[in-house]
Amino acid sequence: TPDLGTYETLELDLTDHVLTLTVNRPKALNALSQQVVVDLWKALTAIQDSCTHDAGWPVRGVIVTGAGGKAFVAGADIREMSAMDPDTASEYGRSMHAVTLLLEKVPVPVIAAVDGFALGGGCELALACDFIYASEAARFGQPEVNLGLVPGFGGSVRLPQRVGLGPARELIYTGRQIDAAEALRLGLVNRVLPTRDELFEAARATLAEVIGKAPLAVGLSKQSIAGAVGRRTSKGLEVEAEAFREAFTTADMQEGTAAFLEKRKAVFIGR
Ligand code: CAA
Repeated sequence: TPDLGTYETLELDLTDHVLTLTVNRPKALNALSQQVVVDLWKALTAIQDSCTHDAGWPVRGVIVTGAGGKAFVAGADIREMSAMDPDTASEYGRSMHAVTLLLEKVPVPVIAAVDGFALGGGCELALACDFIYASEAARFGQPEVNLGLVPGFGGSVRLPQRVGLGPARELIYTGRQIDAAEALRLGLVNRVLPTRDELFEAARATLAEVIGKAPLAVGLSKQSIAGAVGRRTSKGLEVEAEAFREAFTTADMQEGTAAFLEKRKAVFIGR
């Protein structure tokens, strides 16, 4: 087995050439703390480096998921963000942008297996995967406006790319959650499976199908799809990074994150 590293916040399991990458902070519903972002970056870099003939191509497909059964990932870490200044927040957003770009770059298919909440940064992490499979318990949304924030991990770019401008605007402006059936109807997810077990079975079956093909051809296909949208994506991420930073200069962002942590309704003042 190849050495893909060990991580404080991630679990890695390599079986039959499929690497399952599990974000493992169930007590915080797998929120993407700064440590998770660093760990994701390192793990994906190790995967990227292993994807060559000389390194033996140990990983031919990846499943990204969350531990605990209640959430895929409930977003960026609100506790950490509530104490961030705009420069630190900007660094945080950009480092997760780099992770999402790496997910699009690794030359093997990456499926997000979503069981439970995929909100904010969680939905954005799923959107950076090649496609999403969901269980019936999956919930998606970009709730940033509830917190005085904006999507900061690529959602303002990749959600419209995936579902079109109208549905993306409605989801982002309302902060509304949608269920798996609605996500399927919008084309946000490719498939919905009844249970968590069936979700993983389906993801593994699809990856097994891909693993029977020529790895370089699959990698080149992925690269050309990413290339077709890549320039728009990186320009869009630049604009998003500015907006994400700007949100951290507002009183409403202080109020929104504090209200979440104090488990009360936020009172916004437009400043
Ligand atoms: N960051 C940090 N901690 C989080 C979290 C997050 N995003 N989401 C949940 N948690 C924590 C809660 O604070 C709680 O901790 P305590 O036990 O210490 O109080 C624990 O996880 C369990 O959560 P809840 O008690 O809230 O669970 P619930 O079942 O009542 O509700 C939920 C589940 C609806 C998902 C709710 O947790 C929730 O609304 N979470 C936040 C979702 C959100 O707003 N995500 C977007 C974040 S902003 C973002 O992601 C910005 C970006 O684009 C970069």
